[in-house]
Amino acid sequence: MDNQEFREEVLRGLSDSKKHLPSKYFYDDKGSAIFQEIMEMEEYYLPGCEVEILQNQSKDIIGEILSEEIDVIELGAGDGTKTIVFLEEMIRLGKKPTYVPMDISADILKFNEENIASRLPEVPVVPLVGDYFLTMSSLEERKNPRLLMFMGSNIGNFHGERAIEFIRLINGYLQDGDFFLMGVDLKKNPHIIRAAYNDKDGITKRFNLNLLERINRELSADFDLAAFDHYGVYNPKDGAALSFLVSLEDQEVSIGGRKFSFEKFETIHTEVSQKYSLKELDQLAKLTNFSWDRHFTDSKGYYSLSLFRK
Ligand SMILES: C[S@@+](CC[C@H](N)C(=O)[O-])C[C@H]1O[C@@H](n2cnc3c(N)ncnc32)[C@H](O)[C@@H]1O
Repeated sequence: MDNQEFREEVLRGLSDSKKHLPSKYFYDDKGSAIFQEIMEMEEYYLPGCEVEILQNQSKDIIGEILSEEIDVIELGAGDGTKTIVFLEEMIRLGKKPTYVPMDISADILKFNEENIASRLPEVPVVPLVGDYFLTMSSLEERKNPRLLMFMGSNIGNFHGERAIEFIRLINGYLQDGDFFLMGVDLKKNPHIIRAAYNDKDGITKRFNLNLLERINRELSADFDLAAFDHYGVYNPKDGAALSFLVSLEDQEVSIGGRKFSFEKFETIHTEVSQKYSLKELDQLAKLTNFSWDRHFTDSKGYYSLSLFRK
């Protein structure tokens, strides 16, 4: 990760009248490890739902794909553990996938590559390290038909119009007949969503505070972690779950010599996790120029793996 870019984005976000920090910087080594803990949390239903769909319906998803050779390209792939289930099913059904995991974290991608190599040695792995907005252009060199995957409800981190712009960008990297598979958290009883971002053990709080710790370490800052709390809220009207760090006192923080003032109870917005209805997903497919879509949902109807075809 380029420190210059990190510094610029942090300084820009904290200079805004409503302070914010980009969620992609959560995932340094420690942040990735805390995220693994989040995935195991009782309240955090999302990975369980996604795994259930992958275990029970991968066959049906793959059944929509005609080509034998296919590049399975995964944006923000993380450790790839869930994807193994899908790749195993592909092999069972006689497909010849090449797996192209893309992630900003070199460490998690190395783990991912080793994980796939040990479990599925017949699947070639072509990891691409870096911000996928930058590394996506190197996909143009690859000629196989594509299934582009964006799992783990990562699309939720794009707010409103930005989700549409992002999926249109993805569409631009696909040929007619290629697929986009996206893990999406669905609208449901708001209490269930709220609890997922406000766990009783404070793991989500640690995850958020780690961003300040990272800024301290990498950008020579002096955030006092004890002087910030975490607050998560869900608005069922627009389907957005928002995470904030809250300054618990009037304070001044130095980042590489630049001073930032925080008023007592002033917030730093750190993350959005947008929830969708199936109807909204159909509209999203149309708005982003896909010709066809189909939703694969878990038994509780909490989550969808939505397949869009170009
Ligand atoms: C919430 S995790 C999900 C991991 C995996 N897809 C899953 O479902 O378990 C998000 C992953 O996306 C990566 N990521 C976030 N923003 C990224 C970006 N702009 N470019 C590349 N990777 C990114 C993070 O490093 C992290 O591994």
